[in-house]
Amino acid sequence: MSGSIMAAVQSQDCLQRDIFRLRLFAPGLGEVRPGQFVNLYLDDGRHLLPRPVSVCDVDGEELTLVYRVVGEGTAYFSRKKEGDRLRLLGPLGNGYPLDELTDKTTILAVGGGLGIPPMLYLSRCLKECGHAVRTVLGYRDEGFLLKDFSAIDVPVYRTSDSGAVGKKGTVIDCIRQEGLSAEVVFACGPLPMLRALREYCAGQGMRLYVSLEERMACGIGACLGCVCQTTEVDGHSHVHNRRVCVDGPVFEAGEVVL
Ligand code: FES
Repeated sequence: MSGSIMAAVQSQDCLQRDIFRLRLFAPGLGEVRPGQFVNLYLDDGRHLLPRPVSVCDVDGEELTLVYRVVGEGTAYFSRKKEGDRLRLLGPLGNGYPLDELTDKTTILAVGGGLGIPPMLYLSRCLKECGHAVRTVLGYRDEGFLLKDFSAIDVPVYRTSDSGAVGKKGTVIDCIRQEGLSAEVVFACGPLPMLRALREYCAGQGMRLYVSLEERMACGIGACLGCVCQTTEVDGHSHVHNRRVCVDGPVFEAGEVVL
């Protein structure tokens, strides 16, 4: 993890209703692994807790974040314009375990809702490392980042609850209909999607890793607001708990209670 840095806003655009994309020039950010996140600070004198935002993409010192406006903090970020500055800490969290992959491992990257943005950087990194990856995206209704996913040379399958993007249905419907299989599945999205994936992958013998980033608060291990239940007892604390922000946000699906 690097220290807190000042980043300059390069652009901000609204992708869809309450979903925004922020591009930041973040010198000194260091290496970012797919699945990691950054903490964005408000520095307005009123809000002390940062807001964790997953990394959508990285290009040199340019960092792309996609977030949903859900309260005062994220509304504050959405008002930032080119040239404004934001303090951030990161990269944080473990990210997806790419080191465990061999050249031959086949991979599915599955994102749903706000779990879609991190699949962009993940899919691109996997492709650039020569891995066989296919990406499944589950939208609620309208699509976003469609062109960005088209620009990376990986097969992308789209589906949506309303049928407005791709075929109507869930990511599981899409995986079934397209006959997609892989040894390893990397997923990020709402808990019902992760639960359904866990059941499906268990039945198919696919190894599943899930990102539980929806559960974060302070993002640095201080508030315990992100604790998730684990299936095994922790060797140090002797409890069935892990902190999503520092032990995760990515866990092997069998490790945690979803
Ligand atoms: Fe505060 Fe993890 S988000 S301890």
